Amino acid sequence: MNNCLAIDGGEPAVPRGTIMPGHPATAIDEELVLRSLRSTSHAWGENCESLQREWAAWNGNTHCIAVNSGTAALHMCLAACGVGAGDEVITPAYSWTSSASCVLHQNAIPVFVDVDPRTANIDPLKIEAAITPRTRALIAVHLHGVPADMDPILKIAARRNLLVIEDACQAHGALYRGRKVGTLGHCAGFSLNQNKMFSAGEGGLFVSDDFGRVERARSLVLFGDFRKPLDDDYHWYGMGWQYRYNELCAAYARAQLPRLDSYIDRARALFAVLRDELTEVPGLRIPVEPEYSRENGYNFVCHVEPCEVGYQGPANFLREAVVRALQAEGVPASVWQRRILPEFAAIAARNAYGKGSPWKEHHSPVRYDPAQFPNALYHSATYFIIGDLRMPNTEDTARLIAAGIKKVFAELPRIDIDALAKDADVSLYERGWRTHSADH
Ligand SMILES: Cc1ncc(COP(=O)(O)O)c(C=O)c1O
Repeated sequence: MNNCLAIDGGEPAVPRGTIMPGHPATAIDEELVLRSLRSTSHAWGENCESLQREWAAWNGNTHCIAVNSGTAALHMCLAACGVGAGDEVITPAYSWTSSASCVLHQNAIPVFVDVDPRTANIDPLKIEAAITPRTRALIAVHLHGVPADMDPILKIAARRNLLVIEDACQAHGALYRGRKVGTLGHCAGFSLNQNKMFSAGEGGLFVSDDFGRVERARSLVLFGDFRKPLDDDYHWYGMGWQYRYNELCAAYARAQLPRLDSYIDRARALFAVLRDELTEVPGLRIPVEPEYSRENGYNFVCHVEPCEVGYQGPANFLREAVVRALQAEGVPASVWQRRILPEFAAIAARNAYGKGSPWKEHHSPVRYDPAQFPNALYHSATYFIIGDLRMPNTEDTARLIAAGIKKVFAELPRIDIDALAKDADVSLYERGWRTHSADH
C-alpha cells in the first residue's frame, strides 16, 4: 500500500463509498411503518403495546415501558427506585450526560466514581469510598456496549442496601456472565436513538421485574396522570413529564427486533477482524473484551498511548491529530465525548435548576474536582472510537479500516502532531495535566 498519508495528499486507505450505512431499512420495516402510517392511531397504540411485550420477552424482563428516549427511561429508573430530594446517587465519572442528569431530574445529587481503565466503566473497587448515609442507588453504565463488572457492584449494593440501576442505553444484547444486561439490577433503561445497535430513530425502553417499581416509573410518563386503564377521570397526582412513545417509531423498532441478534453477530465478527489485524501496533491500544462479558459490538474503543510514541505534549492533542489523519484515510474514527461529567458546566457550576438547586438544599458538601478521577481524565483525552461497523459491512471492509489505522500509526513519528491537532475542527483545550499513564 502507498504509505503517503491522505492528509499529505496520498490515496485514502479506505476508498470513499466503501463503508455502507449500517442497518439499512428492509421491506418488512417499510411495510410495518407504512401500515402504521395508514392507520388512524399515531400516538400510543398497538405497536407500542406489542413492542413492550416483545422487548420484555427478548431481553428476559417481566415488564417494559416504551418511552420517547433513553434519557426518559433512566429518569424513570430513578423514580422507580424512590430516589428523591436529599438522596445521593453514585454514577461513573465518564458517561453520557443523561447518566447524571437523570439524578438531578429527581432533585437528587450525583456522586461520581472513577472508571476502570480497561473498560471505562465504573470501577467497583472505588465505589465503597463514595457511599454515605444518604446514598440510595448506584448507576452502572454499560458503556460502548461492554457490561460493567456487575458481580462486585451487586455485592456492594446488597451489603450497603443500595438499589442498582443499569444504564444499558448503548448495550442492547450485551451479556454479563451469560445474562443479558437490563436483567441484573433493579431496573434499567435502553435507548432506541439513532446509531444505537437497536435504533428506531428515537425512543427508550424502561425495564424492571418489580411491579411496584414499574408503577412508580409509569407515574412519570404522562403528565403525572397515572390512572388505571379504564378510569376516565383525568387527574394530576404528582410531577409528571410527557415521555409517551409513538406508533411510527414503535413499528420500526418491532420490525427490526427479529434482526437484532444478527446485527450483534455481524458487529462482533467485524470487531474480531479488527482485533486480529491490530495486535502489536505501537502506540495503539485496542479494546479487550472482559472475560466476564460478551460485548454487543457497539463501538470499538481504541486509545492512543502518548508514552509509547514518545509524544510529550497534551495527550488530547495527539489523539485529535491521529483522528484527523484517520478520517482523511476514510477510517470511521471519531471522538464521542471529550470531557468527563464533573467537567461539564451543569455540574462544575452547579447549574441544574438555577440558584444552586438542588445542591444548595443538600446537607453535605459534594466534591467535583476532575483530578479525583484520573482514569476518566486519561480515557477522555486518549480514546477514539471506530463506529459504523455494522451490517451490511463485511470483513473485507474491516480489513481495509485496519489497514488505514496501521498506515497512520506507522507514519506517526513523521506527523507534526501539534499543527495537525490545531487544524482539527474541534475546540481544543489543553488538559491541565501533561501526558501520564493512568494506573493500568
Ligand atoms: C450511556 C448513555 N446513557 C443514556 C443515553 C440517553 O439516551 P437517549 O439519547 O435515547 O435519550 C445515551 C444516549 O446516547 C447514552 O449513550
